[in-house]
Amino acid sequence: MARIIQLTDMHVLPPSQRVSGVLNTYELLIDTIDTLLDDWHKIGPIDAVIVTGDITETGDVESYQLFRQQVRRLPVPYFLIPGNHDRRDPLRQCFEDMATIPKSGKINWVHDLADLRLIGLDTLIEGQGGGDLDDADLNFLAQAIAAADTRPILLAMHHPPFASGMVFMDQIGLTDTGPLADILNAAPNEIRIICGHVHSTIISNIGNTVAISAAATCSAFPTDYRIDAPVGFNKTPRGYSLHNWDQGFRTTCMTLAKSSGPNPFNAP
Ligand SMILES: [Fe+2]
Repeated sequence: MARIIQLTDMHVLPPSQRVSGVLNTYELLIDTIDTLLDDWHKIGPIDAVIVTGDITETGDVESYQLFRQQVRRLPVPYFLIPGNHDRRDPLRQCFEDMATIPKSGKINWVHDLADLRLIGLDTLIEGQGGGDLDDADLNFLAQAIAAADTRPILLAMHHPPFASGMVFMDQIGLTDTGPLADILNAAPNEIRIICGHVHSTIISNIGNTVAISAAATCSAFPTDYRIDAPVGFNKTPRGYSLHNWDQGFRTTCMTLAKSSGPNPFNAP
């Protein structure tokens, strides 16, 4: 059994700054960690936290340090991959002591829990919104899958390997997913892909593999499939994902909204 919290798209900025002039993402990060700690005894035991990119808004060192100060409040190991808003060198500078952050190049990694292999894949093209996986990344993945034997795999990547239907996001999606699908389809393991980027929960697939994007912790992109849909964000719903492995995958999409209860069913 393994249980993983996925946080994505924090877009942290120093508290004096606002994302798009509106969002105090540092405050929203603190609220996220506070909420997790409040709920920890209900959703645990938790083995690890995976952060699927857009950790910061601009890839600056100060924001990575602010993120680190908050995420370290969670009492389990955490693992990072970059998103399109991140920059590898500042990220590396702030997390260079982590075994899963390579000293150079892409931030691809493997970490084994007792029953589950975690793989992180770096889809960032620095300075661009869209993402890709080059031949070296795909080779890394193929080898990481082969070395997992029959263990199940939770594969984390920022850009979803599916179209979201949101025009402005699919213009900055993951390019050329065919070779990735070939590797996944050839694998005997049970694999679940988890991603971020689209600031909403979407369940889809690539080949035979289920892929799920998590709600962002800082904002939500509205579901609007019109070609001329207004481009922007909503402040809610914010959330995160809870991934469970126990002879099969189960993902629960968790809200960060405040709520009272539970109210008893039979109350007068
Ligand atoms: Fe994002």
